[in-house]
Amino acid sequence: MSQEKITEVGSLADHVGTSVTILGWVESTRSHGKVGFVVVRDGTGLVQGVLLKKELPEDAWALLESLTQECSVSLSGEVREEPRAPGGYEVGVTGLELLGASEEYPIQPKEHGIEFLLDHRHLWLRSSLQRAGLRVRHEVEQAIHDYFYDRDFVRVDTPILTSSIGESAGTLFETDYFGEPAFLAQTGQLYVETACPAFRKVYCFGPTFRAEKSKTRRHLTEFWMLEPEVAFADSDDNMDLQEDLVCYLVQRALERCSHEFEVLERDTSELEAIAPPFARISYTDAVALLRENGSEIEWGRDLGVSDEMLLSEQFDQPVFVHDYPKAVKAFYMKENPDDPRTVRCNDLLVRGYGELIGGSQREDDLDKLLARIREEKLPEDKYSWYLDLRRYGTFTHSGFGLGLERTVAWITGRPHVREMIPFPRLMNRLTP
Ligand code: 4AD
Ligand code: MG
Repeated sequence: MSQEKITEVGSLADHVGTSVTILGWVESTRSHGKVGFVVVRDGTGLVQGVLLKKELPEDAWALLESLTQECSVSLSGEVREEPRAPGGYEVGVTGLELLGASEEYPIQPKEHGIEFLLDHRHLWLRSSLQRAGLRVRHEVEQAIHDYFYDRDFVRVDTPILTSSIGESAGTLFETDYFGEPAFLAQTGQLYVETACPAFRKVYCFGPTFRAEKSKTRRHLTEFWMLEPEVAFADSDDNMDLQEDLVCYLVQRALERCSHEFEVLERDTSELEAIAPPFARISYTDAVALLRENGSEIEWGRDLGVSDEMLLSEQFDQPVFVHDYPKAVKAFYMKENPDDPRTVRCNDLLVRGYGELIGGSQREDDLDKLLARIREEKLPEDKYSWYLDLRRYGTFTHSGFGLGLERTVAWITGRPHVREMIPFPRLMNRLTP
């Protein structure tokens, strides 16, 4: 741009009493004869510009009156503290310039239907609730990396194009890979497991894909998943790590996202109360508790959404449900030595959202794992590399997957995961 130094709204506190130039987008304008106001968003904050007709060149005043929602502008003038202005500062405008027009901006300050907003997601991102939600997402992502970096985990990036089915055959996106079938990764887990003997404590964090044919507020077809994996950790150690991580993420958001929580009108008392230990109940006990509370679930069936909701309501804190029946869980989970009908796994359930995390100790016995692959009718030849982990120095190990969008929805108190990712992919939506 010009030689003039551009100031970001987020740093106006350091510029009170000096003259600045701000570049941004117009949120609103109003004028009362002799004085006019323009509220500008520059991505770091909001600032109000105050314009006095008699002190401005005529064309600048005319421009103010013609500004429309979301046109881009350059605004210059002196910074003043003004507690009543959005953002707490205002600029006494001496210069105003139009950079880019915006005619008939589709999203108006009124109620729009959700499909309309999703059709305009590329513009909807600019609105305050969406900005707040996505900033919390950004903070949670950074907190995840900081947490694992500080604890000497190595980040291992796993492939998105794969030839082996990661979770189950039911929800695969298949594509053609030079004449061979390939799948979009449902999980990075199998790969990240193999990095344990190289680095001991590892994690992957990236997009994962599931052809979910259900339209629910908890499912996306493309979502981001954090997957740590730890050598010589059993199922109990695995739950310890999940509990510690979840408490850390909540703390981090409370410390750094107070402005966003205000915008989102999030009652943070529920988050402030999150503290270890979280209750740990077996699947068998969970079934009994559910039945006492009116559910008709039978032992052996997976917990449905309504069961997860009902169960999580019984606890003040997130709750671990562990040792599910083998038949309802993925092939790689370790058979429970005390009860071979079950596997050493856990889900972490939270109020209002259900499953936030799914984790398990991994089957480390070659023969048992092979038997499970055959039982599930998975193509054995595609798992030879995965079985090598059990052939060459097998070891106890455990890990879990935390869904980023569900975590951010829970932390922000927003009902639907579709707002927790910049461009949601849903069963009926691939655009924009
Ligand atoms: O329980 P899931 O399927 O576990 C795995 O994929 C394991 N491989 C993880 C591991 O052990 N490394 O998924 C883990 C989490 C769920 O608890 C949920 O939060 C999220 O991923 N998730 C989804 N989020 C949004 N949309 C979907 N369709 C999701 N499916 C799972
Ligand atoms: Mg699960």
